[in-house]
Amino acid sequence: MAQTIRWGILATGLIAEAFAKDLLVDPRTRRVTSIKHSVVAAASSTSDTRAQEFLTKIGASSANAYGTYKELVEDPNVDIIYVATPHSHHYQNAMLCLEAGKHVLCEKAFTVNAAQACKLVEKARERDVFLMEAVWTRYFPLSIYVREVITSGTIGEVTRVFADNSMAHDVEANWPDGKHRMVNPDLAGGALLDMGIYSLTWVFQTLYSTQSSPKPPRVVSSMRKYKTGVDELTTILLTFPRSTGDAHAVATCGFRTASDPDGQGTGGPAVRVQGTKGEIQVFPPAFRPTRTKLVLENGTVDENIFEYPGPGAGSGWFNGFSTYLHAEGEGHGMFYEADEAAYALVECRKEGRLQSLQESVVIMEVMDEVRRQNGLRFADNIETTDWPVYF
Ligand SMILES: NC(=O)c1ccc[n+]([C@@H]2O[C@H](COP(=O)([O-])OP(=O)(O)OC[C@H]3O[C@@H](n4cnc5c(N)ncnc54)[C@H](OP(=O)(O)O)[C@@H]3O)[C@@H](O)[C@H]2O)c1
Ligand SMILES: *[C@@H]1O[C@H](CO)[C@@H](O)[C@H](O)[C@H]1NC(C)=O
Repeated sequence: MAQTIRWGILATGLIAEAFAKDLLVDPRTRRVTSIKHSVVAAASSTSDTRAQEFLTKIGASSANAYGTYKELVEDPNVDIIYVATPHSHHYQNAMLCLEAGKHVLCEKAFTVNAAQACKLVEKARERDVFLMEAVWTRYFPLSIYVREVITSGTIGEVTRVFADNSMAHDVEANWPDGKHRMVNPDLAGGALLDMGIYSLTWVFQTLYSTQSSPKPPRVVSSMRKYKTGVDELTTILLTFPRSTGDAHAVATCGFRTASDPDGQGTGGPAVRVQGTKGEIQVFPPAFRPTRTKLVLENGTVDENIFEYPGPGAGSGWFNGFSTYLHAEGEGHGMFYEADEAAYALVECRKEGRLQSLQESVVIMEVMDEVRRQNGLRFADNIETTDWPVYF
């Protein structure tokens, strides 16, 4: 008998919708039989009408609709809450859930800074609940394959990684008033926290979590700012200390140049993981890749395509984020992280298997250091570890 996990959705924006729709896809379409997901409640910070509209849109209209996040965390039928507010609000909202004794899956970037991440981890341990950063990319079969290529020794000792996650936006035209969360400092906007997290995810899941006792990297970085004060172009050079000799990585992100200029992957890989015997390449977008290429010194070239499951062609079902809708019946891919959270609840684990909370904290420390080096600090009420703070 499959065990059903009862989800509460905190926020009603674009990614909350994509996530909730993926949740409700029959898990058997991805050969998962021991767990199921249900959406039992959603909350909007603005009104219960908005929450109800959200539930209707995702096909869960009989679930509870709340006009405050507080009511959601008090719903006894909710096992786990998915937090999908802007970065600025993750700490406040996740803490609200943890204080109420709920398990939490919190969108990336986990928090605004490492101090907040540490406090969430402490609180989760104190309440003995599950907590995970929703870095969906880690849980894709493609990512699992790439890590296996590394840990099996197929490309030799990995000493260098390039990882880019950039999209060319017409920044002034798309977000003219500077209020959109991508560029708004009051919502902890900027390329680093929104997009750089994926470049760092690739660096960390290839150079850090593949090691038996990894050490945090040293960091040097450069940043170009947008007129609102957030970063629009960020480049990070990371040095990972190792007993066999340091490994290097370059992690980049930006709003004005693209990893994939024509949207067809023609421009080359977004990620190159280079070892002494060859390399594994991952084609853009780095946050939801579908194609890899293994190139070995002995002449082997092996390309792989990873398809995202879902209800399939003819289902009339569409998912995707914002304007990036996928082919009919093809999932966005967020169910893989949801499955991991569900398995954890069933197995009474308090962390995800593929990215420890400690690793999420180290990644936040890297982003803290990049911001420190380049003088990017958000308002005190956003950087604070005080709770509750209302803004
Ligand atoms: N995993 C991914 O692929 C992915 C993709 C995109 C975004 N994200 C992450 O998901 C989070 C949300 O992104 P999004 O694109 O869904 O943003 P969005 O469309 O702007 O939605 C954010 C939602 O947060 C709630 N919210 C509460 N207070 C808010 C405030 N002061 N200003 C704006 N919204 C507020 C709103 O819902 P209610 O008020 O109705 O509750 C709003 O709809 C971010 O952390 C982002 O990095 C992840
Ligand atoms: C090259 O090396 C790979 C990995 O060790 C191996 O699977 C493959 O058979 C080799 N190919 C040739 C042509 O030697």
